[in-house]
Amino acid sequence: RIAGPSGLVIFGVTGDLSRKKLMPAVYDLANRGLLPPGFSLVGFARRDWEDQDFAQVVHDAVKEHARTPFREEVWQQLAEGMRFIPGDFDDDAAFDQLREAVEELDASRGTGGNFAYYLSVPPKFFPKVVRQLKKHGLADAPEGSWRRAVIEKPFGHDLESAHELNKVVHEVFEPDQVFRIDHYLGKETVQNIMALRFANQMYEPIWNRSYVDHVQITMAEDIGIGGRAGYYDGIGAARDVIQNHLLQLMALTAMEEPIAFDADALLTEKLKVLKSVRLPDDLGEHTVRGQYAAGWQGGEKVVGYLDEEGIDPKSKTDTYAAIKLEIDNRRWAGVPFYLRTGKRLARRVTEIAVVFTRAPHSPFDSTATEELGQNAIVIRVQPDEGMTVRFGSKVPGTSMEIRDVSMDFAYGESFTESSPEAYERLILDVLLGDANLFPRTQEVEESWKILDPIERYWSEHGTPAQYASGSWGPEEANEMLARDGRSWRRP
Ligand code: BG6
Repeated sequence: RIAGPSGLVIFGVTGDLSRKKLMPAVYDLANRGLLPPGFSLVGFARRDWEDQDFAQVVHDAVKEHARTPFREEVWQQLAEGMRFIPGDFDDDAAFDQLREAVEELDASRGTGGNFAYYLSVPPKFFPKVVRQLKKHGLADAPEGSWRRAVIEKPFGHDLESAHELNKVVHEVFEPDQVFRIDHYLGKETVQNIMALRFANQMYEPIWNRSYVDHVQITMAEDIGIGGRAGYYDGIGAARDVIQNHLLQLMALTAMEEPIAFDADALLTEKLKVLKSVRLPDDLGEHTVRGQYAAGWQGGEKVVGYLDEEGIDPKSKTDTYAAIKLEIDNRRWAGVPFYLRTGKRLARRVTEIAVVFTRAPHSPFDSTATEELGQNAIVIRVQPDEGMTVRFGSKVPGTSMEIRDVSMDFAYGESFTESSPEAYERLILDVLLGDANLFPRTQEVEESWKILDPIERYWSEHGTPAQYASGSWGPEEANEMLARDGRSWRRP
């Protein structure tokens, strides 16, 4: 899988995402030999830069963040195809200049008229940028070539705004020209959920309500909001990552086998899951939101959310969210899916734990199994990528005592191949036109339908519970599971 003749235009090239993820990913792809020799990178931003200033910025970003070693010859070849267009999104002359750059690159580098436009900009600018692309003849591909738009979340902040955004984007681009990034789908371990379930025989027979007690999906981060106050305040944890990453993880875990491994078949199955989601009747009992207070993390004292720079001291934004969902279908009826995420938690870990019901009967004396937990299959998404199976085993000795043990699969031990960074995989897929790992409009909108009533409930009821930085979140989240006779795993 090597990309054919093509180029990438990044809007918002001065942003963090571009510097930390996109530029290094382009270099790593080139270094792995996955980009065509004439691949070209165009930056567009409101900076007074020449091409070489832009190339220098990319160079520094690559040196700092690329995964693969720096090789001068790879860099040189890439750098020759870098162009910079200074301007803002209202600037017609800048878009004309962009069109000229694209034509010049087609002629000098053989990009073949194939360009992807990466909108690494706040969503309020999406309409402007896509309309400018249309107006300046950049959206329509010349005969035999392609044009694609890549958009980053957030795709709106509720169903209505997402719908509006989608409408504008689709005024200009056809659905198969639009690639929405959910970078979790670019992670190896997330793609492996499908391999695990559908390339094997032994998991699927027990992957249902007859054997599964509940599923816990955790995305815990140890970092705070960093310098992202402007984006984060008013958005919060649920909109930031449950609406997209966590619901996608849930859909992949719960969906039926797609009829083929292609974008349409995957969409069909994921959509069925999202449409079958049922919210609890009592949202007060079965959802929790929290906000980090001051505390200790990694041996350092850290401030609470309300004292972070740029945050409204009266903010009610959630930095922690836990919700219970059910999926009303034959496979999952009655099996709760608990989703939780938070910033400034005890450690960074993302995992999906499928927790099984207890053995229906035990021939052993109850003291033998006193401490035994429930069997579980834990897909470790990050950072310690792999999978764990938890089950009971006899403790060596002269009596029958049974205790939980783990069987582990670790990527690092089983494979010598290294995982590409999520953005590498996704950028390559965009250039190849492979849409499997990109959520479609309908998924985005269905996900908002799930979240909107919860957000509405929260905005009308109370305030987020405070939790100490470095803890596992608010006590209310433990109570939420305890009411169901369950408890959160401590990854
Ligand atoms: C982003 C969120 O989508 O994912 C961030 O906006 C979050 O708030 C990030 O920190 C986490 O990504 P990863 O890949 O580090 O788990």
